[in-house]
Amino acid sequence: MYKIGVLGAGTWGMALARMLANAGNEVRVWSALEREVEEFSKTRRHPNLPKMIIPDEIIFTKNIEDVCTDVDIILCAVPSPFVRSTIASARPFIKDGQIIVDVAKGIEANTLFTMTQVIMSEINKDGSHGNVKLVALSGPTHAEEVSLDMPTTIVSACHDMNAAELVQDIFMNTCMRVYTNVDILGVELCGAMKNIIALASGISAGLGYGDNAKAALITRGMSEITRLGLKMGCMEQTFSGLAGIGDLIVTATSMHSRNNKAGYLIGSGMTPEEAKKEVGMVVEGINALPAAMRLMRHYHVEMPLTYAINAVINEGADAGETVRKLMERGKKSEIDKSVSTLDFESSLLKSKKDTGMRRVMTYGGFDLLHYGHINLLRRAKALGDYLIVGLSTDEFRAKEKGEPCFFDYQKRKELLLSTRYVDLVIPEDSWSQKIPNIKEYHIDVLVMGDHWRGKFDYLRNYGVDVIYLPRTPEVSTTMIKEEVKQGENVPD
Ligand code: CTP
Repeated sequence: MYKIGVLGAGTWGMALARMLANAGNEVRVWSALEREVEEFSKTRRHPNLPKMIIPDEIIFTKNIEDVCTDVDIILCAVPSPFVRSTIASARPFIKDGQIIVDVAKGIEANTLFTMTQVIMSEINKDGSHGNVKLVALSGPTHAEEVSLDMPTTIVSACHDMNAAELVQDIFMNTCMRVYTNVDILGVELCGAMKNIIALASGISAGLGYGDNAKAALITRGMSEITRLGLKMGCMEQTFSGLAGIGDLIVTATSMHSRNNKAGYLIGSGMTPEEAKKEVGMVVEGINALPAAMRLMRHYHVEMPLTYAINAVINEGADAGETVRKLMERGKKSEIDKSVSTLDFESSLLKSKKDTGMRRVMTYGGFDLLHYGHINLLRRAKALGDYLIVGLSTDEFRAKEKGEPCFFDYQKRKELLLSTRYVDLVIPEDSWSQKIPNIKEYHIDVLVMGDHWRGKFDYLRNYGVDVIYLPRTPEVSTTMIKEEVKQGENVPD
């Protein structure tokens, strides 16, 4: 059995703590509030889960060190606005190599980080946590139902399948079925964005609209979340999975959902502030709006529902009038790709190795795309039929190189895709994603510049050819930047 430290004694953290303790694990729960520690230790009841009995074996503490030391996993279950500060307090007590499971859902508005990215960035601040593994656990899971042992399903997502599978083992029992997924970004994006659509669904019910409107919001809501996710490099299947449509259905249709409830109150005439007060707990959909609006603009994705909800919540737009405007938008097709593109993508991405297609993968920043890059891409493509580039995200590049790219991720991606060699670009945001990428995309050949010679030989154990191609002499992004800088200093 496992030792588990839980950060946060809210409804979801406590429902999971109870489940894990009943399965025989040793569970300690931290709360920042002395009042909660005392009350829960004594009464063995949680005010927001009145039917749940807290097992006697669960120990409550206000000392964060007690839940972060000597544990197999740390479960981060504080509301999203408190994730960064909680991890900052916990960092000194977290060992390198620790598995941290995050169940908080949201996107940090100023950094646009998902919650596991927030945790990673906070934990890396002291430079001694290079091997911490972050797993996102997300899906259609009302705490109220889990606390009563009702059948529930959830997704354990991590680039590192070993970590995802360990979490699957720990959380799986007769009431909880856990699926794994390598697309952690997609899983977390769904978890954050669905709360906004749930708000919309509540507003619609509050306005007196029926099931037709609800179904429309869920379907078109998922379609805009998917559009955004695909632009960010997430995998399409995630959006039709449990953390995607599964979680959206449960959040947008159930009155257990605070987002849905807050929306209902707003649709019935309350201001967002009044609704928040009435709900009494964090309304994650309202918190997620600023980040969603920034993502929409950053990735140039059309997201009419998110835009409309933001207008109602943050700009005082009238809910009924907003619905009318949505209904009167220009005509659209449900299918936004041409048939030839659809056939092309699905045949390439969903087919397995046995179709005879040879897939090549390479990684890099490819900033200020230059002839050295093109030389590499041309030779890489010649080694197979389909070339995938793992393109360093802006954050990853800045962290590794100490300075940002000249062109942002989206521009570098578009430049790569406009060459005749690159077929697909996915984000590279960690050193550990190569194995999951190789499995997911059925890679046959990994190509790296020869300054990496030997470093990736271990990947041959995963059935890929690892080929180091000689670099083109005398050109690099760094050199171009320096030469331009020097040129700027030369007087006319
Ligand atoms: N590359 C190459 N020949 C060069 C420069 C880069 O073959 N003259 C290859 C690298 O080996 C890598 C890919 O292009 O496989 C992307 O490299 P990247 O690091 O993005 O390019 P650099 O120009 O080396 O950038 P920097 O100076 O920032 O390291």
